[in-house]
Amino acid sequence: MGKVGHTFIDLEEVDSTNLYAERMLQKGSVAEGTVILAKFQTAGMGQDDHQWESASGQNLTFSIVLHPRFLSPGRQFLLNKVISLGVLDFLADYVEGATIKWPNDILIGSKKIGGILIRINVEGESLETAIVGIGLNVNQTKFDPSLTQAASLVQVLHQELKLKEALILLCNAIDMRYSQLKNNNNEQLKSDFHQKLLGYKLERKFVVDGQQIIGIIEGVDEFGRLLVIHPGEPVKAYAHKEIEYLLS
Ligand code: BTN
Repeated sequence: MGKVGHTFIDLEEVDSTNLYAERMLQKGSVAEGTVILAKFQTAGMGQDDHQWESASGQNLTFSIVLHPRFLSPGRQFLLNKVISLGVLDFLADYVEGATIKWPNDILIGSKKIGGILIRINVEGESLETAIVGIGLNVNQTKFDPSLTQAASLVQVLHQELKLKEALILLCNAIDMRYSQLKNNNNEQLKSDFHQKLLGYKLERKFVVDGQQIIGIIEGVDEFGRLLVIHPGEPVKAYAHKEIEYLLS
């Protein structure tokens, strides 16, 4: 198993690095840890069929090919933990207070600076492939006004980063977390993830079934569901889209 970032495929322009990785995998085998990055994506994909907008050459938009065959499909959320913690470890050298908004948005304060999109392929009882797409806003200063939550690192740091250097550091941080997973260090991943989880153990406002409701996040279960206690009720487990955080 190769280190994350042992090979970089550096593209000027592509529809989506995730789709490029998918096409590579359809044509033949792709070594674990291969990273495909693009200066510009013409059809960058975000969560929930959204587009991922990123100005050309200003940010990191890349995909990592992994072969987490040691994981059964039900344990897929461990990958989300690994990747979001890797991103936060990388960010910790630059900024304080970055958090993970479940399931895997990367925030600084109430602004989103990064997102993760993981597509898996199952063979038999194990995860044959995971295409891990990461978009991290680094040097972009102007965003479409409709993206009211979007921000970048430079807006916090007031200093641009060299993208290739940042990418190497980020891949190293992700590799470190992926090694923890391979070494079955799941308790460490769980507690670190909870520590970085926006609103963990705090009373917050949510929307469930169109209703605003107070709750305290107790954590995330092994299936990646958000565990929330509402006043006077037992803990409830929510799947993605069943609950929405209110950021203020
Ligand atoms: C999100 O909506 O929060 C997830 C965004 C993921 C964007 C990245 S950019 C690189 C990779 N290629 C894509 O098409 N999407 C992911």
